[in-house]
Amino acid sequence: MKILISAGPTREKIDPVRFLSNRSSGKMGYALAEAVRDAGHEAILISGPVTLPPPAMVELIKVESAAEMAQAVKQQAREADVIIMAAAVADYRPVKVHTNKMKKQAGNLILELERTEDILASLGKIKTDGQLLVGFAAETNNVIEYATDKLKRKNLDWIIANDVSASDRGFATENNAVTMISATGRIIELPLDNKYNIARSIIAHLLNY
Ligand code: CTP
Repeated sequence: MKILISAGPTREKIDPVRFLSNRSSGKMGYALAEAVRDAGHEAILISGPVTLPPPAMVELIKVESAAEMAQAVKQQAREADVIIMAAAVADYRPVKVHTNKMKKQAGNLILELERTEDILASLGKIKTDGQLLVGFAAETNNVIEYATDKLKRKNLDWIIANDVSASDRGFATENNAVTMISATGRIIELPLDNKYNIARSIIAHLLNY
């Protein structure tokens, strides 16, 4: 099977030397690509800027912004049997990207931001029969309720909820603990473990073995 995985943060430019981004390390997405490869499937990894080495035997497509990620993901999506959006895509980008470096002024600076495309929601609208669409949800409270809402809103088959309220898991850490929720109402808890082991369990459950 051909399995598409997005990973890492995106960067939204403010000017030639500044950007908006987030703390995603890309580790969960890279671990998923490795688990897919190790399970004998074809992994395509679309990655925002991270410091991780490229995984062996995985096709790696590097992007920077949410718009670039949207274009790359949608281009590859048609051919994919499974799509897992593990990337922490920026929800907003600056309305204006300054061509020259911005000079400081007296007083406050107000940056106007606009919404980026919700890639996962777009994929949910064009999902083909037999294609499995999987999202991630970072939540600090009401984990199951909020994640289930995202699953339905974006027309997903599975959502993988991360409780990011604890500092030993989730964002920019070595370990993770997740709850997988399916559109058919299955709930699977994967207790705290390193991200590779979590990734292997996620892939095993998604592909039913
Ligand atoms: N996602 C995406 N495109 C975006 C933003 C997010 O494809 N522009 C994907 C992420 O890759 C992830 C899921 O959507 O799979 C996260 O959904 P989102 O609605 O952004 O949830 P949270 O990040 O948990 O944030 P919030 O609760 O604020 O909605």
